[in-house]
Amino acid sequence: MAFTKKTVRDIDVNGKRVLMRVDFNVPVKDGVVGDITRIQKAIPTIKYLKEHGAGIVLMSHLGRPSGTGYEEALSLAPVAKKLEELSGYKVSFVADTYGEEAKAAVEAVKPGDILLLENVRFLKAEKKNDPEVAKKLASYGDIFVLDAFGTAHRAQGSVVGPAAYIPAVAGFLLEKEVDTLTSIFSEPKRPFVAIVGGSKVSSKIGVLDHLIDSCDTLIIGGGMAYTFFLAQGYQVGTSLQEPDWVERAGEMLKKAQEKGVKILLPVDNIVTDHFGEDAVGEAVASNAIPSDRMGMDIGPKTEKLYADAVSGAATVFWNGPMGVFEMDQFAHGTEVVAKAIADSSCTSIIGGGDSVAAINKFGLADKMSWISTGGGASMELVEGKALPGVEALLDA
Ligand code: 3PG
Repeated sequence: MAFTKKTVRDIDVNGKRVLMRVDFNVPVKDGVVGDITRIQKAIPTIKYLKEHGAGIVLMSHLGRPSGTGYEEALSLAPVAKKLEELSGYKVSFVADTYGEEAKAAVEAVKPGDILLLENVRFLKAEKKNDPEVAKKLASYGDIFVLDAFGTAHRAQGSVVGPAAYIPAVAGFLLEKEVDTLTSIFSEPKRPFVAIVGGSKVSSKIGVLDHLIDSCDTLIIGGGMAYTFFLAQGYQVGTSLQEPDWVERAGEMLKKAQEKGVKILLPVDNIVTDHFGEDAVGEAVASNAIPSDRMGMDIGPKTEKLYADAVSGAATVFWNGPMGVFEMDQFAHGTEVVAKAIADSSCTSIIGGGDSVAAINKFGLADKMSWISTGGGASMELVEGKALPGVEALLDA
């Protein structure tokens, strides 16, 4: 599906002041920025705007402040410095968002200048999409650019608000994310193999449901597999399980069968007697999990089964680890799947969250075609939901 909204390419920004919502919600500890991916991915749009004669006012949230004012640990000041370092451009920062200081700093922005405002969530009204917040922010620019894909599922003041007052278009990151994550439903190169892991069926049911409409093979791993085992009548011992979701899991299996989608569930599992760093695993068949054991990872036969399925794919979408990959002894299944994707010539799309952490842990990020910068946003898109931030933009 082509992107159906206007982008920065469709609007004249020369001599204009552009208000741009980015997602700089990055890990910051003691003033030091950890993962810089989201900052790096915002730079192409910033560069384009600067080179086309715009003055740029950037805004973002960081974390989830109480909304009652400044919190040092959640200030965007270190992010401004990091953006300056990564982009090579001078980036000013103002320790204010909605007050007189911010207004004065914004008014001083000339073509080519870049200013970052303080955390938009220091004011509670932002999250409620208060029209006063939207109006105030909109007064900072002639044009609004949304490039905060990771936050595009939030109908909050700085995400959707300005679009009601000034022309609103997408930045390149937002365009690429939406295009890539929706293309797996409209025109996937086949075979299309979707891999869904993670702990709960309940949090991924919409994702599973929508993927079954489009994929050829659906691979299931992680803690959610045990609820599927229950649906198949297996015992799962002390493994993570959601009894209330067994029926829905069974419906998914039925739906897949009706649609001719092949579902792969683990045939063996690494189980242990307790959850802990010192836990030791052993492989058991999926229909023979002892009553005092819990599943922590997929087993060796499953690793091979999944890696083979991935190697024959033309498109792979992956969200969610195969096991408790944070513990090295239970990371093997996730690593094998990640490596199989990396070694394949398929188009590989990684849908945010823990799978991204896993890929980074194994040093395979540069082997993937696209790694989404959005966690919740990418899941909502894959569920087939519209993102409020995108909806608010001008139609192309
Ligand atoms: C994210 O990290 O998923 C986004 O920045 C959205 O953050 P939020 O869940 O606090 O709205």
